[in-house]
Amino acid sequence: MKSITLIALTTITLMGADGYKVYKNNCMKCHAEMMTKAEVIKSINTLKAPPMIEVSNKLKNNIFTMDDDEDVKRRVVIAFVKDYIDNPSVQYSMCEPMAIEKFGIMPSLKGKLTEAQKQAVSEWVYDHYEGKTFN
Ligand code: HEC
Repeated sequence: MKSITLIALTTITLMGADGYKVYKNNCMKCHAEMMTKAEVIKSINTLKAPPMIEVSNKLKNNIFTMDDDEDVKRRVVIAFVKDYIDNPSVQYSMCEPMAIEKFGIMPSLKGKLTEAQKQAVSEWVYDHYEGKTFN
């Protein structure tokens, strides 16, 4: 039994950080995991940031790649998220101006996450919401 647990743990370590865990520890206090548009409107005054389903949908809708390959687009979106964690900026934000006025620009998390954690959470932001529409 023990060796099975050990093998399982080793596999997780080799695969890198757990994106959902990184999200829960570093993003969730501002970005809710799941919300509908109606819920966002209702609780706009207590929200600190757009919910992550909205962020994920927005990036997928706004980032175009000429290549038809879904993998290319996935990599570009993941690279955007990964960079945004360290370098949030009004120049790169795809939030509506009104939302930025309301929430302000995200504070930089530079130095708080390892490369592997940034990669894992960025992949999670893409993959977790595949087929899930913000509406
Ligand atoms: C202290 C609050 C806070 C934390 C913590 C936080 N964010 Fe944000 N984030 C914001 C706010 C506010 C915005 C909207 C304004 C903007 O685009 O900068 C935002 C925007 C974003 C955007 C850009 C969305 C767009 O449309 O351009 C991404 C990507 C993002 N966050 C990812 C993350 C990830 C991943 C984490 C965790 C590793 C995280 N955020 C942690 C507050 C936060």
